[in-house]
Amino acid sequence: MPVGPQDLKALADRAVAEIAACADDAALEAARIRYLGRKDGEVTQATKQIATLPAKEKPAYGAAVNEAKARIEAALETRGAALHGASLEGSLRDRVDLTLPGRPVRIGRLHPVTAAIREVSRVFATMGFETVEGPEIETDYYNFEALNIPPGHPAREKWDTLWVSNPLGDDVKKPLLGRTHTSPMQVRIMEQRKPPIRIVVPGRCYRYEATDAIRESIFFQYEGLAIDEKLTMADLKGVLYSFARQIFGSRSNVRFRPDYFPFTEPSAEIAFSCVICEGKDPQCHTCGGDGWIEAAGCGMVHPGVLRRVGYDPDRYQGFAFGGGLERLAMVKTGTPDIRLFYQNDLRFLESF
Ligand code: PHE
Repeated sequence: MPVGPQDLKALADRAVAEIAACADDAALEAARIRYLGRKDGEVTQATKQIATLPAKEKPAYGAAVNEAKARIEAALETRGAALHGASLEGSLRDRVDLTLPGRPVRIGRLHPVTAAIREVSRVFATMGFETVEGPEIETDYYNFEALNIPPGHPAREKWDTLWVSNPLGDDVKKPLLGRTHTSPMQVRIMEQRKPPIRIVVPGRCYRYEATDAIRESIFFQYEGLAIDEKLTMADLKGVLYSFARQIFGSRSNVRFRPDYFPFTEPSAEIAFSCVICEGKDPQCHTCGGDGWIEAAGCGMVHPGVLRRVGYDPDRYQGFAFGGGLERLAMVKTGTPDIRLFYQNDLRFLESF
């Protein structure tokens, strides 16, 4: 219990030091109660004591009490302000600073085959062709029979593939296979729609094939089909010329040579002129030196195929084409080997 002005000064010194060391609001409030609390605060006690003092001591003692109280109050206020300033600073530190530069996001890029699919769809869209997709696992019917390739037909040898068990119990009449081309979609679409039809079908295909620089056993094709009342081979040529020019530029050319497919008549093989060497480099990796890149098969849809889907071949004609998508991507990107597309080597994929 302070008994004189000196004791009050010591009390205030102690209180001020203690308050200055308070780490948070709770400690500060505890200190306030300890010194200025209404019931038991040390300064409060001292104030109450004034009444008990002899009259001549009262003024000096009272003044000392007031001074101690004023110093403690000032210390509480200063410390309180400092603590709140500190916590404001802390909360600013925790907050997201929108002015900082962002963390870089790895955006990735399109696989060159995906980019080629999109480009093919875009170019044919300019000529009114709608992009559709179909099943990779097909029935024998759509992959072969509906395309004039009955069991035993020699064309089946060229299109050998993976056969998969039929989940419906290996129905021998409906064997399933990895489609060897996108041509089954010609039939599926004709079954579903009435002419006129203009579609392009990008999609994955499967073949029993020894791989090399230009062949893979799993690869992509794009199929085209147009059916209308007065279509001719000239329309087919015009569409493919326009396609080649849009994909490879205005100097590119298209070569048609007779070919055979069971589901088109007449049939042709399409080659695009080599845009890499323009036929001038006998060592060219892209065209092998002859200036042409065999790119697709095509022809006028066979009347037997039309009849099978219920179209009258005397009224409707159509043309179809089917090409290897990686071939296009190889020429466009200067990729010398088809296998590079599927090795997932980031050094290759990041170069696009
Ligand atoms: N589907 C044939 C192939 O894979 C290509 C083709 C498509 C030929 C359409 C003619 C018409 O070789």
